[in-house]
Amino acid sequence: MSERHQEYIEKINDLRREKRAVILAHNYQRPEIQDIADYTGDSLGLARQASETEAETIVFCGVHFMAETAHILNPEKTVLIPDPGAGCPMADMVTAPGLEALKAEHPGVPVVCYVNSPAEVKAVSDVCCTSSNAVSIVQNLPGDKVIFVPDENLGRYVAQRTGKTIILWPGYCPTHRRIKPETVRRLKSESPGAVFLAHPECDEDVLALADHICSTSGMYEFARQTAATEIIVGSEMGMLHRLRLENPDKTFIMPGDNIICPNMKLTTLKKVFLSLLEGRTVVTLPEDVREKALAATERMVKVLA
Ligand code: 13P
Ligand code: SF4
Repeated sequence: MSERHQEYIEKINDLRREKRAVILAHNYQRPEIQDIADYTGDSLGLARQASETEAETIVFCGVHFMAETAHILNPEKTVLIPDPGAGCPMADMVTAPGLEALKAEHPGVPVVCYVNSPAEVKAVSDVCCTSSNAVSIVQNLPGDKVIFVPDENLGRYVAQRTGKTIILWPGYCPTHRRIKPETVRRLKSESPGAVFLAHPECDEDVLALADHICSTSGMYEFARQTAATEIIVGSEMGMLHRLRLENPDKTFIMPGDNIICPNMKLTTLKKVFLSLLEGRTVVTLPEDVREKALAATERMVKVLA
């Protein structure tokens, strides 16, 4: 570890005690951010942690919709995002007016919105979901038709798993789109014993090659219990840090060297330090939007994976 890193870690530790703050980090964060976090997890785990913590301040090391979800669920706590520019391009692919227009075409059809979406979209949805509980949520809805926004790949995967008709929205993750089926096929032929783990945001032709499809935290669980010693990781590069720490005897292979979410990498130790020191940037919403988004978000947190 560099001296600079050590210096920031000490300052962060002092400030987190002083301000009664908790640091939550997504599984794609830089290794040094994962290492200082009080909790590292997937979107559902982070939303639950944000609801359960007794800390007064949450420093959210992830992307904006994740911090916004923490605020929707906990308006009495201060939610800080170290870099307010850390957005999610997929979340920006859907708008409330766009969803309202789709709903008008399908009156009475329930709307499930992936948590990777703006609060205004959650406010006009019936229930939110994450990659870990999307199948259960759709399965438990009445009727056999569902509107699903914004991730087309996750929506199609849920349709296959539930047998329901899903009205899709053309949103996608630019990072997971970089994973190509020909790369996965080549890696599988080079390592015939390897298993291919894929996040459901991967494209359809990539998911078709997967041995197991799950959320980012689901990948840790799978890697721990599988007998396979070589695992191709169909998700973002940040996954490698904990996968390797927790499974020193296994080999993890990325399907490309550019499977990186640039927004997730915007959070640095220096920005976490400044965030705690200066109390910025506070994530907030107009209260009417937060209240409207709350019902769909609370339903999501209650449904197990
Ligand atoms: P998880 O909830 O599986 O961590 O996924 C969040 C995400 O944005 C993946 O790209
Ligand atoms: Fe959004 Fe994709 Fe980054 Fe996840 S990996 S935060 S879906 S852009």
